[in-house]
Amino acid sequence: MKKSVLVIVSFIAFIVSPCVLADVTAGKAAFDSAGCGDCHYTEGPAREKTIEDQLTKKGPELWYAGSKFNRPWLEGWLSAPKIIRLLKYNSLDTENPGGHAALSVSDATQVADFLMSLTSDVVEAGVIKPKAHPKGKLIFKKKMPCSGCHQYEDRRKVLGGKSGPSLVGAGERLNPDWIYAYLKNPKVFKPIRMMPIFEGLLNPKDMQFVSAYVATF
Ligand code: HEC
Ligand code: HEC
Repeated sequence: MKKSVLVIVSFIAFIVSPCVLADVTAGKAAFDSAGCGDCHYTEGPAREKTIEDQLTKKGPELWYAGSKFNRPWLEGWLSAPKIIRLLKYNSLDTENPGGHAALSVSDATQVADFLMSLTSDVVEAGVIKPKAHPKGKLIFKKKMPCSGCHQYEDRRKVLGGKSGPSLVGAGERLNPDWIYAYLKNPKVFKPIRMMPIFEGLLNPKDMQFVSAYVATF
């Protein structure tokens, strides 16, 4: 009895593992053939590249995409992209022209498989749960200048600044644990034209509160 269970389990493992690998390979091939790599790095970490290299980048790095995004959002966005950054990538004043490349629904699924396989070990899993904690709200709206640079939605109204990515729908888009890792050390993910560093201004608990709050957007 035990032996037959073992046989079945190893048979399933044998069938499943090459499929998972094959999906990532297909997604990588779709990513390459669509020219995504012209604008996006999929190899990290960012800090090993030069400043000039960083400034010529045409799009955000994706080497940590699997730690950053929620999969359902990623899959949906790849076939129907919408503007995230109100300003053109790495620009301080030019508007984002939009028009990001869109994939077919089936390519989007495969590319999402590939991108979700790219993770960063800086992001600790299971620390942040979305929660509209009053302290997080106070930090975001009043104590810190977050809302001065980021749009967010409050009672169906979009408020806030435009120099950072819009955080409208951030709860659907971003993995809460990544938000916390990002606040702790934005440089790991984006070494130039980046977020101000809040280390020292916010203690780890406050960063957790504000991350949990942003994850409810
Ligand atoms: C001409 C350059 C260019 C090409 C080609 C391109 N992208 Fe992008 N991509 C961008 C820019 C610029 C942004 C930022 C858009 C925004 O913030 O609204 C972006 C954003 C993204 C994001 C969200 C990243 C984040 O951190 O917000 C993903 C995921 C993505 N692209 C995947 C892809 C895939 C997959 C392809 C290939 C089908 C692709 N891109 C092709 C320039 C490009
Ligand atoms: C001076 C402007 C500024 C302030 C203040 C600011 N940010 Fe940012 N933020 C940015 C920029 C710039 C980026 C990264 C831009 C990029 O990736 O293109 C960013 C990125 C982010 C991201 C990642 C978004 C994404 O999709 O990649 C989150 C989450 C975030 N900020 C939250 C916060 C919180 C919370 C605060 C307050 C504690 C805050 N920001 C304060 C400018 C700001």
